[in-house]
Amino acid sequence: MTYEEATKMLAKCGQEHVLAHWKKLGKKEREALLAQIATIEPKSLAQCAATLKTGSEPPDSSKGKAPKVAVLKGKALKDAVAAGEKELKAGRVAALLVAGGQGSRLGYEGPKGCYPIGPATDAPLFYFHARKILARSLRYGKTIPFYVMTSEMNDAATKACFEENKYFGLDKKDVFFFTQGMWPGMTKEGKIILDQPGHVFMSPDGHGGLLAALKRSGALADMKKRGIKSVFFFQVDNPLVEIADPAFIGYHVLEKSDYSLKLCAKRDPFEKVGMPMKFGDSFRMVEYTEMTREQCERKDGKGELYFKYGSPAIHVFDRAFLDKEASKAMPLHLAFKKIPFVDAKGKVVKPDAPNGYKFEKFIFDILPNAKKAAFLAFDQKEEFSPVKNAEGSDSPATCKADMQNKWRKWLSEAGVTVADGLTVEIDPAYALDASDILKNGICLGAE
Ligand code: UD1
Repeated sequence: MTYEEATKMLAKCGQEHVLAHWKKLGKKEREALLAQIATIEPKSLAQCAATLKTGSEPPDSSKGKAPKVAVLKGKALKDAVAAGEKELKAGRVAALLVAGGQGSRLGYEGPKGCYPIGPATDAPLFYFHARKILARSLRYGKTIPFYVMTSEMNDAATKACFEENKYFGLDKKDVFFFTQGMWPGMTKEGKIILDQPGHVFMSPDGHGGLLAALKRSGALADMKKRGIKSVFFFQVDNPLVEIADPAFIGYHVLEKSDYSLKLCAKRDPFEKVGMPMKFGDSFRMVEYTEMTREQCERKDGKGELYFKYGSPAIHVFDRAFLDKEASKAMPLHLAFKKIPFVDAKGKVVKPDAPNGYKFEKFIFDILPNAKKAAFLAFDQKEEFSPVKNAEGSDSPATCKADMQNKWRKWLSEAGVTVADGLTVEIDPAYALDASDILKNGICLGAE
């Protein structure tokens, strides 16, 4: 993009101030600024400005109803597992990880996936995800391609982590990295914020940026070429997730669902998780911040929580549904933040209070577009223990304890007694569940 083209585009959008310090910039800074401006689409700026006027428009949760959630047992469970295993054996399943977030609550500098979570080995979060995919692929004799979304901020470090660890045993050609988009931050008045005289403040466009990024990068086309039908979606912070588990894949396929969600009973009425609700004929995710105290505490006829289930963000998508959704615009969500800015004299100011907006898209905003959505309950203790905070709930300490409990349970099911105080860690490629321990025998690791 040339200076003239940038001036014209910015003038059309009422953002001329982005080039206000042009004269003071060196050659390299000018080139970098033009490259940044080239990534900004006028259409997106208009959507940001419109969202600033209307707000994020959360659903009116008072009108939402609890969805019907399936609990699989007996024959229904057996049928779902058989259907899922058929998909896995046919090579029709892919794994999709969103790992572009910044992990600021955890206070960890690098990509969150590099966070050392192995209780005995300090293995990173990525290790547990990749080794599960490897184990599942080996079990069913077909590759599960692994699509990893990064952002500009952590793409190089994420790839380096996979390289250093030899892709955790996966074949490099079956791991597809792609980068999500970045959006400029704006003032209340809809003006783009410069955080340096020659630099626009930009932040990742949310995990909903996934759809556009899947399309732009060719990942969707790659899935199609490989004959993928079901796409298992998960977040980077949960090492307990059972990636591509046959029961969930099978349930999704049998239900002929576009978008299936695993849900777990909330640990308490105010647990910080999203909740799918039914509005008329379709569903929408309602974030915990959008619910009133009364709604969170509402009881059903049996005295149980009415909105009993929360979403751990474990989904299965029909690939063709993702394809269709990838070309549509998604709503934006606003986050009011402290954003460094350049004053009229070109000096960088670090504000003490929020002064500007970041814009994010959320993947679950495509839920209302699903012709068929399905909801499956699971036990939170087995599959959900995210690493979100440095201390307290959902921290490395609680996650490591939950990993230990899960593995100890498997060992006990396999007839192995583990002494108190011994640190247990199981490589997913060695055992995906208790049945593998029985089959493979025991190998003792670190204390
Ligand atoms: C999220 C969900 C919440 C769910 C909870 C379960 C939202 C708004 N809420 O909350 O409904 O109950 O997880 O743990 O998502 N990410 C990107 N790019 C981005 C932003 C995030 O790839 O621009 C990825 C992160 O790397 C992470 C995931 O999305 O893997 C979730 O992001 P995070 O901000 O941690 O979500 P939560 O607010 O914890």
